[in-house]
Amino acid sequence: MKKPYPDYFRTLVLHLSPIMEKMLKLKRPAVATILMLFLSGCYYDVGLEETIPDNIVVSFAFDIQPILTTNCTACHPVLRPPDLTAGNSYNTITNGSYIVPNNLGASVLYQKLLGNPSVMPPSGALPTADINLVKSWIEQGALNN
Ligand code: HEC
Repeated sequence: MKKPYPDYFRTLVLHLSPIMEKMLKLKRPAVATILMLFLSGCYYDVGLEETIPDNIVVSFAFDIQPILTTNCTACHPVLRPPDLTAGNSYNTITNGSYIVPNNLGASVLYQKLLGNPSVMPPSGALPTADINLVKSWIEQGALNN
């Protein structure tokens, strides 16, 4: 029987499909572009684990809030501040030191993702790709975009 895909393609898909599945859920041009570059081999060096390329603008509404909604709002604000629910989160986290634009070290929320001093979510660190989206968003000025 003829194989539906060449072997190298199959291997690629098998390795990437869990990551792709997760990223496609975000339905974002930023993510789609990275994926495209990755698959086309133009940007062969940029693994999905690496920093988001400078020319990709991270969106709070489409990239960051879904991460918060999926991983954080079960406890924030139910258990503790900050309120990370959609509609409230941006004002809550940028009005103080949870997120300080262009300052990763001073951004308490970002430090928590890295485990400083305790990791959030408590069940275990987020995937590096998600942490890097938050990182790039802060480096791009933490816009309400
Ligand atoms: C299972 C519940 C739970 C989940 C899920 C959770 N947190 Fe927390 N969070 C806590 C608790 C409890 C504390 C206080 C203890 C601590 O700081 O470790 C806390 C503290 C924090 C703090 C410090 C608050 C302060 O005022 O100093 C931040 C920031 C934070 N969490 C962000 C997050 C983010 C971002 C996520 C999602 C990626 C998340 N948390 C997911 C329970 C949770």
